[in-house]
Amino acid sequence: MSIDLTEKTITAAVQQTFEGAKDERTRELFVALVRHLHDFARDMRLTGEEWFTAVDFLERVGHISSPTRQEFVLLSDILGLSVLVDQINHGDGSATDSTLLGPFFVEGRPRAENGSDISGGVTGMPMFFHGTVVDTEGQPVVGASVDTWHSDSEGFYDVQQADELDGSPAMRALLTTDGDGHFWYRSITPRYYPVPTDGPCGEILRAAGRSPMRPEHIHFWFHAEGHESLITMLFRGDDPYLENDAVFGAKRALVADFVQHETGETAPDGSVMPEPFQTVEWTFTLASHRG
Ligand code: BEZ
Ligand code: FE
Repeated sequence: MSIDLTEKTITAAVQQTFEGAKDERTRELFVALVRHLHDFARDMRLTGEEWFTAVDFLERVGHISSPTRQEFVLLSDILGLSVLVDQINHGDGSATDSTLLGPFFVEGRPRAENGSDISGGVTGMPMFFHGTVVDTEGQPVVGASVDTWHSDSEGFYDVQQADELDGSPAMRALLTTDGDGHFWYRSITPRYYPVPTDGPCGEILRAAGRSPMRPEHIHFWFHAEGHESLITMLFRGDDPYLENDAVFGAKRALVADFVQHETGETAPDGSVMPEPFQTVEWTFTLASHRG
């Protein structure tokens, strides 16, 4: 029955309309979603004005979104939902900790050979990264796809400076592990940065008096046959924002040593460096496919 509904009867009436869903999980999710949404409106005694404000907000999140500006992802991130979903689905401890994807991964990243410079010509302190990918038995994972992306030394991703870079990708690449499970590249050191605050999500952060800052990090996304994919990041231990990440994604288990080297030292690629540089190494563990 969906006539003459009241504050008390409307929830069951709406839930009932999902009972015929062919997919059981779809039914279950919508029935629960309606319960939580309706309870929220009742608990808060939500006003019409507040609801229109919320709808207008979501519309603006949609309008500002594009393939390179993922405001809905950011909304999920600043509400802690991205990390919560990640925690629910990962984290039995056998693999490297995962964390959120964030809005700056893009499909159109270049393939790169191990050892290549992926900075795209953006200037900054050189950084040499060396990774090893192993399974939970410690055996190398050969031929794994490794996406990596990070900000420049001012805290900006390539997609945030598309005009200056003529739309060319920089500080991101898709690599493949070699016969020993290794991958390595040269780039520039990233830096802490604010999440984008010029859109609707920025309004929430300002309204709450929250910091928009993320601690310095490098992103990774691994895919390998027979293994669970892994989305993760490495952080720097002395970062001023490590314990106050705007999107709740920082983890102590993912803190790496960003080792400082001085002018004249030899880089991992064998060159004697004419400037200071950093090296970072990490071993990532992938879990086997479930079930
Ligand atoms: C990022 O690390 O790229 C990121 C994650 C969540 C929100 C904004 C940025
Ligand atoms: Fe990031």
